[in-house]
Amino acid sequence: MHQDAERVLLTEEQVLARVRRLGEEISRDYAGKELLVVGILKGAVIFMADLVRCLTIPARLDFMALSSYGVSSRSSGVVRILKDLEQDITGLDVLVVEDIVDTGLTLNYLRENLCTRDPASLKVCTLLDKPERRKVAVAVDYNGFTIPDEFVVGYGLDYNGRYRNLRDILVLKREVYTRPAAGDGGCAGGEQGV
Ligand code: XMP
Ligand code: MG
Repeated sequence: MHQDAERVLLTEEQVLARVRRLGEEISRDYAGKELLVVGILKGAVIFMADLVRCLTIPARLDFMALSSYGVSSRSSGVVRILKDLEQDITGLDVLVVEDIVDTGLTLNYLRENLCTRDPASLKVCTLLDKPERRKVAVAVDYNGFTIPDEFVVGYGLDYNGRYRNLRDILVLKREVYTRPAAGDGGCAGGEQGV
């Protein structure tokens, strides 16, 4: 286990088994259709890479990058699009893939924004859900795991850009996000990619 981790929340094996089942469920639900899978950079990249390879239906991929203004471990709800989709989604079946739904503010903004573009359908698949912290009710169609209110990293999830490449999902030691770390520019607040 990584030295900055307090404990393993979900092992790589547990995650991959769940991702496989999500892929099967999504493939059944969209049988006969083609999906546009929209990954939210950067946190969802690793989850999306595994998920799309578990789909048995045709799928195209696109990405969005959003930023949220607030301290790096929490989002404020003030969301800005840093990178938009490359294609018009009018009339397409769209599945948004997220790493984690926390307050729900990011996803709420995203749902409203994408709905105005008239997709044939819009659903959301998140790897993790922290319902205890929800500030706005937002629909989540597929959820990998419901987790307690703890800050987690690994399998794409970061703290200040780090730990995304770890294979397991780990609970980060509290002291890691309360101490000023080298290479962070001493910045506790500001605009952060989600
Ligand atoms: P909201 O609050 O808008 O936040 O639902 C979604 C974004 O907040 C980040 N987030 C986390 N990132 N470990 C992380 O690495 C966590 O435990 C965590 N909780 C929230 C994440 O960027 C997500 O997209
Ligand atoms: Mg993040």
